[in-house]
Amino acid sequence: MTPRALREAVALVVLVAVMSGVILVILNVGSGPATDPHAGEQTASAPPAVSTPAGGSAAPAAGTNDPALVTAGTRLYQADGCAGCHSLDGAKGVGPTFKGLDGSRVQLADGTVTAASHHYLKVSISAPDAATVKGFPKGVMAGAIASYGLKAKPAEVRALVAYIASVK
Ligand code: HEC
Repeated sequence: MTPRALREAVALVVLVAVMSGVILVILNVGSGPATDPHAGEQTASAPPAVSTPAGGSAAPAAGTNDPALVTAGTRLYQADGCAGCHSLDGAKGVGPTFKGLDGSRVQLADGTVTAASHHYLKVSISAPDAATVKGFPKGVMAGAIASYGLKAKPAEVRALVAYIASVK
């Protein structure tokens, strides 16, 4: 019994040794030639893998409070003449003030009340006559900004929305 158990134990040890030898050889073979290309692959694939989510997450974030976008919107507010009709201090001008506009409730000329979401702001800028604010003339803004072609410049509209949203 004891010699047999011993033989079995030795056989087991030999088996384990052979197996780990095989595993080591496999690992060596695998890590030898494969490590370098794999490391190269990782370096090559890491930047796109990292930059894609980064770019992807930067895009939605840019829609709201990205400082660069707000800065661009500030410039457009002046350059596209918005400033001539829309105050920033609550004063009523030719058009409604931008102060506190984002997220507020807007009464429209057709009697409905709508939330000034970013979508509403976007539509108000790219298609000014889609909805008319109660107490204000229809068509005035559309005529004034027609030459800027904002309907075909979604990036500029986004910047203007970001800017308006920053005017608290
Ligand atoms: C000639 C004056 C004039 C100019 C210039 C003008 N707007 Fe307007 N805007 C108006 C008037 C009037 C209204 C309200 C009537 C309406 O809803 O169309 C209005 C409405 C808006 C609204 C909706 C406001 C609210 O209280 O719901 C937004 C947003 C807006 N304008 C953005 C802009 C931006 C951005 C620019 C510059 C690219 C601009 N406007 C240029 C006159 C103007």
